[in-house]
Amino acid sequence: MNPQTAADFIRSITDLKPQVAIILGSGLGGLADKIDSPVIIAFDRIPGFGTSTASGHRGQLVFGSIESVPVVAMAGRFHRYEGWSNDDVAFPVDVMNTVGASHLIVSNAAGGVSLKFRVGDIVVLQDHINFMSGVFASDQGAPEKFAAPGCFNRPAMTYDAAMSQAAFEAAIESGFDCYPGTYLATFGPTYETRAEYRMMRRIGADVVGMSTVPEVLAASRLGMRILGLSMVSNVANPDKAVKASHDEVLEAGRAAEVKMEAIVRKVLQQISSS
Ligand code: 6GU
Repeated sequence: MNPQTAADFIRSITDLKPQVAIILGSGLGGLADKIDSPVIIAFDRIPGFGTSTASGHRGQLVFGSIESVPVVAMAGRFHRYEGWSNDDVAFPVDVMNTVGASHLIVSNAAGGVSLKFRVGDIVVLQDHINFMSGVFASDQGAPEKFAAPGCFNRPAMTYDAAMSQAAFEAAIESGFDCYPGTYLATFGPTYETRAEYRMMRRIGADVVGMSTVPEVLAASRLGMRILGLSMVSNVANPDKAVKASHDEVLEAGRAAEVKMEAIVRKVLQQISSS
């Protein structure tokens, strides 16, 4: 599906040109309610978008503004483990870029591999490790794609330093813990063994999750400026079995939403003043 077809459909509903695209991860969808003058479009109406809204995701694109900056937020996303291809997962990023977005803020809920993390901490991604493709992927199908032009290019830096800096400033101003870190993406849907957490920590991962990397790779290819944020939803500790109650995790998610909002507002203020 051509992203332009989806963009044309969106244009028939709203002519808002978002500057920033925001992908709201698990438990963080409430930020969509903070968008001023929202125009909501269900994923299943948009040509080329997947139709699954599994795992409690809303499955909506929300256009509007935050801090007077025009934005589009994805409330819900597509995962590889749900059976979508990399292209399916990345398609909305291409569409949001086509309708105007030059920046991407992508969030997720992730397991904390680093010893210093507590449930509810925010990690600002500095880099990632992709265990979602190649020999690490659990999809046994044929190669999805032969080498496309540009697929061997490596950007000097995938995650944007200035947006990252604004995130840390927001954390200092609001008084919450926020760390730089490396995100490791697995295909999922299974969680890991303790031996795998030990390996992940040794190779330099700080958080582990099952999303984000396909969207980031697409945004990077499109030349977008990218901020990646993980909310530590559980502690993936190889050394001792840490049990988190479901209520604790939900509570951490609600508390983290306030932190995410503070970061998003600060980043948008910085973008609007630059
Ligand atoms: Cl512990 N592992 C993976 N792969 N994804 C996660 C997670 C852990 N916690 C949240 N998402």
